[in-house]
Amino acid sequence: MTSYQKGIPVLAGILLSLSLLAPACKKNDTSGAVKFVAPASFPTPVYNLSANPLTQSGFVLGRKLFYDNRLSRDSTISCGSCHQQFASFVHAGHIVSHGIDNKLGHRNTPALVNLAWSYDFFWDGGVHDMDLVPPNPIKNPVEMDAQLPVVLDRLRNDSKYPGMFKDAFGTDEITTTRFLQALSQFMYTLVSANSKYDKYVRGETTLAAEEQQGLHLFQQKCATCHTTDLFTDRKFHNNGIQPTITDSGRYNVTLDPADIGKFKTPTLRNIEKTGPYMHTGGLRSLQAVLDYYGSSVNASATLDTVLTRDGRTGIALSEDEKTQIIAFLKTLTDEDFMKDPRFSEQ
Ligand code: HEC
Ligand code: HEC
Repeated sequence: MTSYQKGIPVLAGILLSLSLLAPACKKNDTSGAVKFVAPASFPTPVYNLSANPLTQSGFVLGRKLFYDNRLSRDSTISCGSCHQQFASFVHAGHIVSHGIDNKLGHRNTPALVNLAWSYDFFWDGGVHDMDLVPPNPIKNPVEMDAQLPVVLDRLRNDSKYPGMFKDAFGTDEITTTRFLQALSQFMYTLVSANSKYDKYVRGETTLAAEEQQGLHLFQQKCATCHTTDLFTDRKFHNNGIQPTITDSGRYNVTLDPADIGKFKTPTLRNIEKTGPYMHTGGLRSLQAVLDYYGSSVNASATLDTVLTRDGRTGIALSEDEKTQIIAFLKTLTDEDFMKDPRFSEQ
C-alpha cells in the first residue's frame, strides 16, 4: 500500500488534458480555467478521456446543465439541489434523497468526487459509464421526473444554450450525446486531492501524532476496502448495515445471491462533511460509524469475512483507537475542493 507511505515523489501529477493556457491549479487561481490533472498518488483514471476531451466551453456548458432546474419536470430541482458543493456534492444533512414534490428516495446521496476513477456508479453499481448516469435521476419519479426529449427541447428553445453547444461541440445542434458528454466533462473534473492527507503524501506537511496513529490503525483495520488514495477498492461488500436486508444492493444488478446486501465501497474523501452516512443515511456522525464497526455490525450470510476476522462480528477498536481513526479521517477534508469557485453555480 505504497500510496499511504510518505516519500512519494513530489510530482504535480500527470497532466492529461489542459483546456486553456491555464496556470497550475493553485488555491488562488482566479482565471476560472479548468483542467483535469490525475494526482501522482492516484491509480490510472477509468473514464475514457480521449472519447470526450475536456474543453473549457464543454466544462462551462456541463456546469450550467448541472445547476439548471429545467432538467426536472417542474423546473424546481437541479443536479446541484441534491449534490451540494460545500458538502462534497452530497445533500447535506439528508438521510435519503429528497427530490421533486418533496418526494423521498430510498438511498443516501453519495459524494461526487474523483468520479473519473469509478468503474461503476450508484450504490449497487447499476451503471458502468459516467455518460449514462444523468438519465437515471432525470427520469426517476422521486428525483427529477422529467423526460429527456422534453428537457432537450427546453434547451433548444433557450436563448443561450444553442450558442454554448456550438462553442463546445462545433455546431449548435443539441443532441443527447452532447448533453451527456458536457455533464461528464463537469463531473470528471471534480478531483479532490488537496487535503491535509494529500499534502502529507506529497511531503508538504506532517500529521499530528493522533492523526498518524489513526492512519496506521486505518491501514490495518479499514484499508482492505477503503484502499488507495481514492479510499475505495471500487468493489461491493456487505459491511452489515442492514439488520434485516431490505435493499438487496448489488444483487439487484447481478441476481447472484452472494451479492445480497452488498454496496459499493464509498470513498472517504471529505467524509467529515458528508454525513449522515451509509446507503441508508442511518449513521449520523463519524463517532456513530466507528461505534457501529466496533460493536453493531449485523451478521448475515453475505457479511464480508474481513468483519469477522477478529474472532467476533465487527472490528476490534478501543475508544482511543476510534478517536485516532476519526482524527485521521478529518485529514481527508479538502476545503479547496468544496470552495473552488469553478465548481460553483455561476
Ligand atoms: C433528488 C436528489 C438527486 C438529484 C436531483 C440528482 N441526484 Fe445524483 N444521486 C442521488 C442519489 C440518492 C444517488 C444514489 C442513487 C443510488 O445509488 O441508487 C445519486 C447518485 C449519483 C451518481 C453516482 C455516484 C457514485 O459514486 O456512484 C452520480 C454521478 C450522480 N448522482 C450525478 C447526478 C447528476 C449529473 C444529476 C443531474 C442530472 C443528479 N445526480 C441528480 C440523488 C440525486
Ligand atoms: C469489508 C469492507 C469494509 C471495511 C473493512 C470497512 N469498510 Fe467502511 N464501508 C464499506 C462499505 C461497503 C460501505 C458502504 C456500506 C453501506 O452503505 O451499506 C462503507 C461505508 C463506510 C462509511 C460511510 C461512507 C459514506 O459516504 O456514507 C464510513 C465513514 C466508513 N465506511 C469508514 C470505515 C472505517 C473507519 C473502517 C475501519 C474501522 C471501515 N470503514 C472498514 C466497506 C468497508
